Amino acid sequence: MIERFGETVKTGAAGGLGVALYNGSIYAEVNDRIVRYSLSAGSLVPTGPPITVVSGLPLGGDHPMHPFIITADGSLLVDVATATNACQLKNRQLKSPGIDPCKELETRGGIWRYDAKKTDQKFSPADRYATGIRNAEGFAIDPTGHRIFITQHGRDQLHANWPDLYKPDQEATLPSEEVMLLKKDGDYGWPECYYDPWQAKLVLAPEYGGDGGHAIGVCASKIGPVAAFPAHWGPNGMVFYDQKQFPARYRDGVFIAFHGSWDRAPYAQGGYNIVFQPLAGKGSDGRCEIFADGFAGAVTSPEGAVYRPSGVAVGPDGSLFVSDDMKGRIYKITYVGGADAAAEAKFTPCPSLTAPAGDIARAEAKPPEGTHPDAGATANLPVPPGGTREMVALGDRVYHGEVGGGTCTACHGENATGTPLGPDLTKNKWLWSDGSWVGITKTITDGVPLPKQYRSAMPAMGGAELTPDQASALAAYVWALNQH
Ligand code: HEC
Repeated sequence: MIERFGETVKTGAAGGLGVALYNGSIYAEVNDRIVRYSLSAGSLVPTGPPITVVSGLPLGGDHPMHPFIITADGSLLVDVATATNACQLKNRQLKSPGIDPCKELETRGGIWRYDAKKTDQKFSPADRYATGIRNAEGFAIDPTGHRIFITQHGRDQLHANWPDLYKPDQEATLPSEEVMLLKKDGDYGWPECYYDPWQAKLVLAPEYGGDGGHAIGVCASKIGPVAAFPAHWGPNGMVFYDQKQFPARYRDGVFIAFHGSWDRAPYAQGGYNIVFQPLAGKGSDGRCEIFADGFAGAVTSPEGAVYRPSGVAVGPDGSLFVSDDMKGRIYKITYVGGADAAAEAKFTPCPSLTAPAGDIARAEAKPPEGTHPDAGATANLPVPPGGTREMVALGDRVYHGEVGGGTCTACHGENATGTPLGPDLTKNKWLWSDGSWVGITKTITDGVPLPKQYRSAMPAMGGAELTPDQASALAAYVWALNQH
């Protein structure tokens, strides 16, 4: 049974991850506010109007959502994530330096604390609880109430923005995703630092004088993670498991919903699963485990995934609930197995954080003998006046990251039909040019610093270092995709 209440996308709500039950009320995030609805005993949904607990939370930029947790004593801890990827002068642009000091940190990139029992509180920089946190979507609290953990989405585009310092595959393998122990006034290092799994420490980011991962600088004094995960997997919801239904090894640890990556492209994507991470004492004890997988189906990518895990919750009977944000499914996972010993045998460890990026995803799917550029799909594509068939074929290869380190698939999708990060490029409708070969070449060369319909910029050349010939070939290919 599903009963809906509250604001919807149609009435102007943008959605989000924040929802909690506290003191007989449902708390939820709605745009710049956290509201609460009181729930009368025995009813499934509230009937009264929402009451504003806090308003004025910053919106806009790369991470406009406000997930939160409420502790037993009523602290409402809200994630106000960063507007940008790395506090660059120009967000996600090639070699754009970091703003120093990063002013954004006054109102974003941290956890803010409010009182869940009060109403009409107003967001203020003064209420910051912890800082240097790029995007903490998941919160979990242990049964003692003393340890609060948060997830951290690591930054993107180390190679795309800094190709002199990072190799193409480091785009996919750096930095690790993190779970951190939340401390009052803690500084977790964004934007100056990111976590390098090879050295198991925070290192200086290229925007702040980093040299490709050796220099440490101010990062020596920032707080590192208690557990780390493969790059870009996207840890969204997290919950502490404090029940008895599951086998004994799922005690004193967290389940994390990994939403799945986009920015490992052109290498194979990762995540799209539920992971269990043991957390004993102050550090991390034991290796993380892939608890549930297969949500994406045959194609593990943002545009191909059938389902993507986003939230997790534990029911009073110890079942685990998982929400999906592609089709709005809720899964319930229960354990009916026998002795713990049998369950211990089936352990699927998470891949190593330092595993290589692997082959370029599309190349992998090709026949081992290779393909002639004239064969297959591109052979049937039209050629722009003055262009050649070879150019269109080269553009196809650049588009898919096989030549020149092109990153187009990450945002525009494998078939150029769009993703949440970039528009469909096959509809012959253009916002930034007249759709001519020359026009498209100019858009690709300059990028789109201020998109009209998307939140984040398209870097010049998509962030890759393309030669003028490659950019022109790419435009010939994009042009060709639209002549239908
Ligand atoms: C980080 C994400 C990202 C990457 C990488 C990226 N783009 Fe884009 N692209 C966008 C966004 C966002 C827009 C602007 C849409 C808008 O204005 O709302 C855009 C716009 C465009 C447009 C103009 C569409 C129009 O309506 O005029 C073209 C052409 C294009 N991209 C091609 C490419 C190609 C080719 C590549 C690979 C080199 C690439 N993009 C890489 C995000 C990206």
